[in-house]
Amino acid sequence: MRESVEVMITAGEIEKKVKELGEIITNDYRDKYLTLVCVLKGGVVFMADLARQIGLPAAFDFIDVSSYGSSTETSGTIKINKDLENSVTGRDVLLTEDIIDSGVTLNFLIQHIQSKLPASLRVCALLDKRGRRVKDGVSADYTGFFIPDEFVVGYGLDYDQKYRNLPYVGILKMGKDGKND
Ligand code: IMP
Ligand code: MG
Repeated sequence: MRESVEVMITAGEIEKKVKELGEIITNDYRDKYLTLVCVLKGGVVFMADLARQIGLPAAFDFIDVSSYGSSTETSGTIKINKDLENSVTGRDVLLTEDIIDSGVTLNFLIQHIQSKLPASLRVCALLDKRGRRVKDGVSADYTGFFIPDEFVVGYGLDYDQKYRNLPYVGILKMGKDGKND
């Protein structure tokens, strides 16, 4: 049996939330020149939408790390595949993540970017699976939705590189035999 996706957060709900986050961020960073850092690849859709709801000049940069292979469980080890292109020293950085799960990835990214001495560093995550945290004290400054412990896909998030282009966030349901194709 093939895997399927059950809608959890609709495209309309995401749009409304992204607008709200954009307004809050615009207010919080008034008169600042933001650097939006996208965590590839999951953060691409979220950052593209969020950036257009922020009424401030903003630079873009991208970082790619891996912690997950094609499985749905974190391996706990992080590797940098692509580092930031521009210096963030003295810059106001807003890291945009698709999801915080165990917190291992975000904990690593915060330490990594802090070591580059930005003027400030905050995190905006679309989704947060709070109940799965293994790293204490790791959280976002701005969160779209707190969700239960389900493996989700869509709006940038993948399973084995699939489903990133879904306009909504949905729960991945595996076929009865556990096979995915
Ligand atoms: P963490 O290090 O366990 O917090 O995992 C963070 C990363 O794992 C995220 O940036 C995602 O790329 C991936 N991830 C965690 N949970 C999910 C999920 O439910 N669906 C898809 N990717 C996930
Ligand atoms: Mg990710």
